[in-house]
Amino acid sequence: MLKPSDVEHLMGGRKVARIVYQPEEILLRVRELGREIAAAYPGGELLVLGLLKGSFIFLGDLVREIPRPLQVDFLVASSYGAEKVSSGNVRLVYDPETRLEGKHILLVEDIIDSGRTLNRLLELLAARQPKSLEICALLDKGLAADVLARKPKFLGFKAPNEFLVGYGLDHAEDFRHLPFVASLAE
Ligand code: IMP
Ligand code: MG
Repeated sequence: MLKPSDVEHLMGGRKVARIVYQPEEILLRVRELGREIAAAYPGGELLVLGLLKGSFIFLGDLVREIPRPLQVDFLVASSYGAEKVSSGNVRLVYDPETRLEGKHILLVEDIIDSGRTLNRLLELLAARQPKSLEICALLDKGLAADVLARKPKFLGFKAPNEFLVGYGLDHAEDFRHLPFVASLAE
């Protein structure tokens, strides 16, 4: 079990309040999710759409645990900047070039906070006539239940309402590379 003192050399002077998800438990859960996803799509074309940048590590681990044919593409939306709170302005910076029509689309997100980013993207994607449209999120803070047009069908963990970094999640672009998820000290 990693402790905050074990990871100081990764943090560039910032302090970790606690390690919320250990590397081993993340990988075990991702493996289970991959199996769940394969079982949920017995047929049809599956396109796994990762929302960059936050989902890149999760997506990379996840697709290798989904034992069925699939395709991968990405979406880039920009909402937060260096702020710790959602601005609600969601901008599409990269739009997938892959055909979406007639495919099962699985949108992969790192963490659901206010749900604003996802809602906007769901609207955009639904307009392209996919065969189905579902969300897979690594973490959900549980704050968006009333806001979200669609709940995540696949969820890694119910996350605490703290600012989390690591395993793709950043604070002002730092800490994405951490193999665990940690809560930052103030
Ligand atoms: P929402 O639109 O408020 O749901 O924000 C979703 C996006 O904000 C996520 O994809 C993350 O990029 C970012 N975000 C939300 N909460 C956190 C956090 O605790 N740590 C790091 N990024 C976060
Ligand atoms: Mg971010």
